[in-house]
Amino acid sequence: MTDSAGQAGAAASAEAAIDTETPAISRVYDFLLGGKHHYDVDRIASNAMIQAVPETKLLASANRAFVRRSVQYLVGEAGIRQFLDIGSGLPATGNVHEVAEELNPDVRVVYVDKDPIVLAYGRALLSKNDNTSVVTADLRDPDAIFAEPEVKRLLDTSEPFAILLGGVMMHLEQHEDPEGVAAKLRDRLPSGGYLMHSGCSDPGDDPRAPELNRIFEQFQMGSRCFPTYDEQIRYFDGLELIEPGFVPANQWRAGLDFPDPDNPAHPMVAGGVARKP
Ligand SMILES: C[S@@+](CC[C@H](N)C(=O)[O-])C[C@H]1O[C@@H](n2cnc3c(N)ncnc32)[C@H](O)[C@@H]1O
Repeated sequence: MTDSAGQAGAAASAEAAIDTETPAISRVYDFLLGGKHHYDVDRIASNAMIQAVPETKLLASANRAFVRRSVQYLVGEAGIRQFLDIGSGLPATGNVHEVAEELNPDVRVVYVDKDPIVLAYGRALLSKNDNTSVVTADLRDPDAIFAEPEVKRLLDTSEPFAILLGGVMMHLEQHEDPEGVAAKLRDRLPSGGYLMHSGCSDPGDDPRAPELNRIFEQFQMGSRCFPTYDEQIRYFDGLELIEPGFVPANQWRAGLDFPDPDNPAHPMVAGGVARKP
């Protein structure tokens, strides 16, 4: 793994426990975004995707750009000051707390990921920031996430907060009940809270989506990574979708920060934000 000197020490303990024989989606995504925290096995999986769909890196960037824009909307327009970012991934350009703090320095953020490598690198990044924390926990157990001491310390769940699910629901298997998980998370939101969700999607008319899904499955990164739009809209049941709805990520309040906006691959990544009435 390549690494910067400052983070190497903090990450060393986690490295010992890291499985370098199996690709990890956190590291594959980091590679696709141009990061430094990946192993051969992650690059092999990424390159298989890129060979099948040359726009794979573009799609990863479009997802990341959507995450940034959604946070800008939530802080700037919706007035949200607390975030629970589940499946937060390795630190990347424009981390949620950085984007949020540009608009409001008092914003509090808890990053959650099941991959302990995220905790190792997150701690190094956040060591001097009292308003931000990172915990290792699993999306499949929302109750355990809300029982985490750092979640309790930083989130006042009686006040509006936002749950971010960027590129993570797609890694739940059907038997892990993604709709039920989304429902449990929605139940935790107070009135005025928000749910953001994004991820790979099957637009129905692009055979490259099932092909990419096959590659995710081949590399043990999930078997339903490209759900249909209709399946995913159900994650927002009972909430009010903010305009323009659940749409290709590059079309959501498009700013200047996404590349190649007219590429026909874009509908393979979708995102949306919704408010609890
Ligand atoms: C594609 S990355 C998305 C990163 C970031 N949220 C974004 O959208 O830019 C997906 C992340 O979800 C994490 N993840 C996958 N399944 C998870 C689960 N069941 N619980 C928590 N995190 C999970 C992975 O470890 C990975 O870091």
